[in-house]
Amino acid sequence: MRLQKFLAHAGIASRRASEQIIWDGRVTVDGTLATDPARDVTAANDVRVDDQPVRIADDTVVFAVSKPAGVVSTAADTHDRRTVVELVPPGQRRLYPVGRLDIDTTGLILLTDDGELADLLTHPRYEVHKTYLARVWGGAVGADDLESLRAGIELDDGLTLPAGVEQTSPGVLRVTLREGRKRQVRRMFDAIGHPVRSLRRVQLGPLEIGELRDGEYRALDPNEVKALREAAVRPDDH
Ligand code: URA
Repeated sequence: MRLQKFLAHAGIASRRASEQIIWDGRVTVDGTLATDPARDVTAANDVRVDDQPVRIADDTVVFAVSKPAGVVSTAADTHDRRTVVELVPPGQRRLYPVGRLDIDTTGLILLTDDGELADLLTHPRYEVHKTYLARVWGGAVGADDLESLRAGIELDDGLTLPAGVEQTSPGVLRVTLREGRKRQVRRMFDAIGHPVRSLRRVQLGPLEIGELRDGEYRALDPNEVKALREAAVRPDDH
C-alpha cells in the first residue's frame, strides 16, 4: 500500500498529516529517507518515523470451515448453489476459499482475505500435506493395491507422488497427499477398482479439523496461521 496510507493504518496520524510527516523528512524505508507519500510499501518493509519502527497490525483473517456435502468451494457459484463462503456470517471482508474440495467432499477448507497466504498454501511448489478419510466400495483394499497407492499410481494426468495410505478398518483409509490434482483421491481409488463412497478432508498441514462439525467454522488464532505459513515454506519439516 502507499506509504501515506501505511502510516495512517498504523495509527501514526491521519492520511493528510502522514503526508506532511513524510514531506518533513521524518520517515525512512529500509534505512533510506522516503519522501514520496505514494511509494509502495508492505509489512515486509522496515518503515520508521523518527527512527521508531512502524508496524501495521496483521489484521487479515483465516477461518477453518467444515464443508458439508452439496456446498461448492468457489467464492461464487454460477448455478446459485450454496458456497462455503456463505457458511461464515458476512463481515467487512471479502473471503476467498483456499484451494478446492469437490461438491461431494466434506471437511476442512480455509477461507481468508489474505491473498498472499492463499497463494502460498496452494502454490504447487509449497503445497502443504492434506489428509483425507476415504470410505471406499468393494471392502478391504488388498496389500498390493495399498502399495501402489503409496508408491505412485498412473492416472490420466501422470503418475501420482508417493502418498501416505493407512487402512484403519476394511474399506476405510487415511490418505495423505502432497499434491492436489483435480479429484485426485477419487481417481486414485477408481484406478484400483475401489471407488470412493465418501471423502472427508481432516487435516491441512499442521491443522486438524478437530471438533468442527459440518457447516461449522472457527477463526484460526495467530499461532495456527503462523504454523500453516511455516508448513508451506518448509514443507519437508512436516
Ligand atoms: N481429492 C478428491 O478426489 N476430491 C477432493 O475434493 C479432494 C481431493
